[in-house]
Amino acid sequence: MSVSKKVFIKTYGCQMNVYDSARMADVLAPLGFSRTEEPEGAELVILNTCHIREKAAEKVYSELGRVRQLKEQRKLAGLETKIVVAGCVAQAEGQEIIARAPMVDLVIGPQSYHRLPELVARGMQSVETEFPAEDKFAHLPERAARRANPSAFLTVQEGCDKFCTFCVVPYTRGAEFSRGVDAVVAEAERLASSGVRELTLLGQNVNAYHGDGPDGRAWSLARLIKLLAEMPSIDRIRYTTSHPRDMDDDLIALHGDEEKLMPYLHLPFQSGADRILAAMNRGHSAAAYETLVGRVREARPDIALSTDIIVGFPGETDEDFGETLALVDRVGFAQAFTFKYSARPGTPAAEMSQVPEEVKAQRLERLQATIENCARSFDAGQVGKRLPVLFERKGRKTGQVAGRSPYLQAVHAEGPDSLIGQIAEVDIVASGPNSLTGVIKSEFAWREPNQAAG
Ligand code: 5AD
Ligand code: SF4
Repeated sequence: MSVSKKVFIKTYGCQMNVYDSARMADVLAPLGFSRTEEPEGAELVILNTCHIREKAAEKVYSELGRVRQLKEQRKLAGLETKIVVAGCVAQAEGQEIIARAPMVDLVIGPQSYHRLPELVARGMQSVETEFPAEDKFAHLPERAARRANPSAFLTVQEGCDKFCTFCVVPYTRGAEFSRGVDAVVAEAERLASSGVRELTLLGQNVNAYHGDGPDGRAWSLARLIKLLAEMPSIDRIRYTTSHPRDMDDDLIALHGDEEKLMPYLHLPFQSGADRILAAMNRGHSAAAYETLVGRVREARPDIALSTDIIVGFPGETDEDFGETLALVDRVGFAQAFTFKYSARPGTPAAEMSQVPEEVKAQRLERLQATIENCARSFDAGQVGKRLPVLFERKGRKTGQVAGRSPYLQAVHAEGPDSLIGQIAEVDIVASGPNSLTGVIKSEFAWREPNQAAG
């Protein structure tokens, strides 16, 4: 047995987490682990996460993207790395973390840190987010205790055959694969009976979905969504991430026809310059993207659009970048995720001539300022409206609950914890940098969630 092993613990958020990280280091010491500040040299990487800010889970997933690279690099050098997600995001997301980030070895909630050595030694992929007998949820209404979050992810598709030249997904996840309709429905029913009311169908290329249907034919995503929308206890459906090339007519039309399909679409365009889009092997032009957006908006005029954009792809000139900015301005996104291009070993773009780091950084800053403006004005546009909000958790301040608008905006409102898991009509009275503030008007009647799907 190696005596000296290293654990790298990255701590987010509050003092409680700082304390917990120290505790985790303590309980791991008898296994031979000492703490290091260098993740590259660590056999064990722990992300001790915080759920206090919006998009916390998304941030953990993106951090996990970086940790995964590290794990892959170490693997090439013949070194093993175990990845642990701890803290409040681990607790809230549980199994979802392993579903979305399969390289994670252990997901452990704050109530289970004492079991860390045993679970690490056992070395199997696992999720430990059970509460002991005197659990915290005992103080919450039963509905909330059923499940931490009424909104759940459901993976329907994995892998990708698109081979964008910057992306590792086709290599790491392999060919595009869709789960069968029956398996998806069975999981949706399980989620619904545990109190879930909103499903986000996940896939690297989710709108390329073509799972086997009960009729023996390949079903499209639109058809799958229609079927799931028939489940009485599911009120909201979302899907992510989509590729412009796979946005078919049925799916576009469904945005106008199916009221359970939320008016939000994440549709990456990556670059506004055709030259760069071609070098990226995206298979669409900027104009084609805009036409598509026009068609989606025709079906659902109020839809919130979100996107992914890369700056500093190899060969990107100032002019190319200007076209990206112009496209952002013309489309008017409600949200966007922006990335500096980073070379992924083994991908074609990694071999192309690279843009200097400082140029990428400047472009990213400019792009983010533009996006910020778009997003702020989209949010401000909701003030004065009455929106149905699905409440998911307690708010930041006591006496507040927090949830999501149909447009995926975070909404805070004064209200009892019993609203968690429910949809209520909320008058939006203000918009801030990270969330909307609302006043609760009415609650929809609570429907027992464990009815069979229809
Ligand atoms: N460099 C920067 N961004 C990347 N993405 C994927 N690969 C890279 C890379 N090598 C971004 C794309 C994708 C999102 C999930 O991550 O914008 O849509
Ligand atoms: Fe596939 Fe998306 Fe990666 Fe392109 S960016 S290769 S579509 S996963």
